[in-house]
Amino acid sequence: MDPVALREQFPVFERTAYLNAGSCGPLPAAALRAGADAALRAAEDGRALPYFEAMFAAGDTVRRAYARAIGAEAQDVAVTTCTSEGLTRMISALGLRAGDEVLTAPDEHPGLLGPLAAARRHLGITIRTAPLADIAAAADVGRTKLVACSHVNWTTGALAPTSLAEVGREIPVLLDGAQGAGALAFDVGALGCFAYAAAGQKWMCGPVGTGMLWVDPAWRERLADITPTYVNLATPAAGLDAEPFQDARAFDAPALSLEILLAGAAAAGVLAHAGWDAVFAQAQMLCDQLVEALTEAGCEVAPRGPSTLVSWTDPDPAAVVARATAAGVTVRPLPGTPYVRASVGAWNNEADLERLLAML
Ligand SMILES: Cc1ncc(COP(=O)(O)O)c(C=O)c1O
Repeated sequence: MDPVALREQFPVFERTAYLNAGSCGPLPAAALRAGADAALRAAEDGRALPYFEAMFAAGDTVRRAYARAIGAEAQDVAVTTCTSEGLTRMISALGLRAGDEVLTAPDEHPGLLGPLAAARRHLGITIRTAPLADIAAAADVGRTKLVACSHVNWTTGALAPTSLAEVGREIPVLLDGAQGAGALAFDVGALGCFAYAAAGQKWMCGPVGTGMLWVDPAWRERLADITPTYVNLATPAAGLDAEPFQDARAFDAPALSLEILLAGAAAAGVLAHAGWDAVFAQAQMLCDQLVEALTEAGCEVAPRGPSTLVSWTDPDPAAVVARATAAGVTVRPLPGTPYVRASVGAWNNEADLERLLAML
């Protein structure tokens, strides 16, 4: 991979040391062009059958691109609007009932805790929490009906324990992969989860409004297809007799525009062209450098795993972020924590890290 050539594809680096892919990745110019061209054609030509045919084709292109990033088969990947959508759909699809116990970690993202709390309110499930590091050990076969947690914790960058894969043989495991997909090298089928929900706008560098949901094919039959609409049905013209697709298309989002899909496909294409292995390795290398430099500078780095998030403690994270913004460095505070978080991708370089460190 040529890191300089990769970086040049992202206009944001002309202005700022952008270290914020954990919220939204840098958007490559190719994505902007693809989306804008499609929007222009839609305005000039109208949105008739060719628009919809192109939309279904673009959906499948995105599906293949996402599958490649997480080591999956395309037919097992649904194209969604965001991580949270996939998590919500899977929590609803399990058919949880009053009294069922769900195990999660206390510091998960609201995209996971929100739907779990709603299931507690509306379905009467119970929720038990354990720290992410202990979650596999805390799972109780016979009592726990679902383990739902992040693959990579959004505040610290810690990883779920690998022993979760064994738990997944006995208890359904739902993984929140918002900070995993496109950030780390893994084969989703080896994680032991029945479903893995992730984002298109973060480490895949696509537009807001794109996401993915991997569903283990062995689980598909057991999941309720709670929102089968036109795009999810194999025979939509069959009215009440219409059957959902037998693959992950059954979980696709009901509406994603051609403009969004083409932008998402172009963004993923930029990364695939650079080479996923090289993209993952370059990000790790820069993260390791940042951790070392922060530690040398006397910062307390949050306990993390080999992820692409680096958080450190500061008495006033909001002030650090404001100072960083003024210095042309984009990092973020994490509400309810003492952390400032830098998200480091293959598109960053040592100069970005130096600008961050100089500002500190
Ligand atoms: C761990 C985690 N889960 C879920 C989300 C929500 O992601 P999305 O906006 O794709 O739904 C985020 C976003 O930052 C996250 O970091």
